[in-house]
Formats: sequence, structure tokens, C-alpha cells
Amino acid sequence: MELEREGTAAIQAAASSDELERLRVELLGRKGRLTGILRGLGQMEPDQRPAVGAEANRIKAALSEELDARIEEEAQSASPSSGPSVDLTLPGRARWQGRDHPVTLVVDEICEIFRDLGFARVQGPEAETVEYNFEKLNTPLDHPAADMHDTFFLGEGIVLRTHTSPMQARVMEKFAPPVRVVVPGTVYRRDSFDASHAPGFEQLEGLAVDEGITFVDFRATITEFARRFFGPTTKTRFRPSYFPFTEPSAEVDVSCQICEGSGCSACKRTGWMEIMGAGMVDPAVFEAVGYDAERYTGFAFGMGPARIAMQRYRIPDIRLFYENDVRFLEQFG
Ligand code: DAH
Repeated sequence: MELEREGTAAIQAAASSDELERLRVELLGRKGRLTGILRGLGQMEPDQRPAVGAEANRIKAALSEELDARIEEEAQSASPSSGPSVDLTLPGRARWQGRDHPVTLVVDEICEIFRDLGFARVQGPEAETVEYNFEKLNTPLDHPAADMHDTFFLGEGIVLRTHTSPMQARVMEKFAPPVRVVVPGTVYRRDSFDASHAPGFEQLEGLAVDEGITFVDFRATITEFARRFFGPTTKTRFRPSYFPFTEPSAEVDVSCQICEGSGCSACKRTGWMEIMGAGMVDPAVFEAVGYDAERYTGFAFGMGPARIAMQRYRIPDIRLFYENDVRFLEQFG
């Protein structure tokens, strides 16, 4: 039928989806030509009606199918400018982007400085045995120093490590001297949260063992680290202290970063800030790990990167590190 040919040709020729919609109305709509034919059926001879009606319906279906196919085709090939309009001048939406946590930044920076001084970075387990956490570090469980750690016991002989020092023993048992490592990691103590305490926090252990290492090497290494980390004019001070796994033991202070030693509220008017516990490795520790204590000497240290980050960025409350408030974290890195 002519209507079918014409309709199909027009549909094929249509160049846009608007034009196709217009054709749909024209061909198949309520006032369209096919509807006209179907409406006119009543006036036809009864014996002609079925054939004409069937043919009209067939054409209607065929044209409708053709239209759908072409509309689909148009939609797919539509260029952006012919689709729903996009305003290319609108500023883009910034993507959420993560940042390194300030404590991570400090840990990485410390490890990089020690890497340049020849120390490898290693990690160890957070669930640790009493043997490694205490005993191999010259600290029997009934030693007052063990009490002071407020340990989380996980089970028979297993604890959450209270410090990173057990890695001293693990590293020495695995590697023969010379050994130079730094060990960052989370440690746990039964402390409640307050402005300067948390039940889980970062520590960073260091260990250097070889023949002929002396207290001078120890002081020089720590002083060099402090100058590289805090700045070239930084002064260091070694105060006598006590740890079961070092002899002699020291606590190391650096001149206050904020007042440069003249005394301020951040350093409680002392001009100094404590950054680590340290000392020469106790021969009892060498014996516990099978090193020849006559032949080897070494030094060890342990610091709290969170404390150091608080000093560096002047953060008044350690709990800010745990809240993961994006507005806080965005300020670093
Ligand atoms: N493990 C100690 C603590 O958690 C810190 C420490 C002190 C580590 C002296 C050392 C060290 O390696 O030599 O308090």
C-alpha cells in the first residue's frame, strides 16, 4: 500500500528524533491517516471490512516498529550537543581525595631519615607473646617495669604488644649482625583516652648492633636524626633513665620547637621536649637472642610519633588523631 511505502520512506529520511516524533503523530496519531482509515471501516462494505482492517493494523504495527527502531538509532548516535544540554562552563565538582594521616606523615619522615642513615624499615606482629614482649627484653613478668605497661592479655602467654621493642629480639634472632632497623607500629596499653593518652598508639623502635658500636655512635646518630627532623639548630640532651633492656638508659630531649629553648607553655617552661627513650642494648638481651654479648654492642631507641606530631603541628589533644574528622585531617600533607 502506498501509505506504507511513503511512511517508511519518510521515517528513513527523518534526520532527528523531533522529526520522528512528528511523523509518529502524523502517521499513527489520533488524527493520523491510518486512524482515519480504521475509523472509516464502518462506512465500507461489510465483506471488505476484515481485509482492510487487518491490512491497516499490519501497516500500523510495521510503521510503529520502524519508528521505534529509528528513534533508538537517533538516541544512540546523538552527539552531546544534540542531547540534553550540558553546560561546559560549569566548574567541575572536586573529587574526594584522601590524605595521609599526620601521624603517618611523621612516621614516614622519620623512617626516611633513618633510611638515609642506613636503617631498614621492618614490621612485626601486634599480637605478641609474653616471651618477646617482656622476657627476652630482660623483663620478667613480675618485674615492676612489666606492671607499668598495663598490658592487654589476649590468652595464655599472648598479649597485645605494649611496645615495639619485642621486634628488637625478633630481628636479632633472624639476622646476624650488623643490624640496623627501624620498626614503626601500633602498640596497646590499658589506658583511657585523655588529652595525652590513648589505649592504642604508634611507636617507632630503632636498633643498631655491630662490633664496636659505642655511646658516641648512639649520641651522634640521635643528634643527627634530631637535626634532620626538627631543623639544623636543634639541640639534644640525654638524661639518665632506666629501661630493663638498655644499660645505660637515657631519655632524649630536643630543644623546644616552639620557643627554641627559652621556655613556653608547650614545653612547660623547660625549653625542652622529650622525644624518646633509648640506651645501649643490655648484654642480657643479646644473650636472650643468641648474640655474642662479648663481641657485639649496640643502641636502641623508642619514640612516639603521635607525641612528635603533636609537638610539630601544635595539636593540643591526642584524641584529634582518632576522630578522623576530615576538616582536621585535611590540614596536613
Ligand atoms: N619500649 C619503651 C617504652 O615503650 C621505649 C624504649 C626505651 C625503647 C628505651 C627502646 C629503648 O628501644 O632503648 O616505653
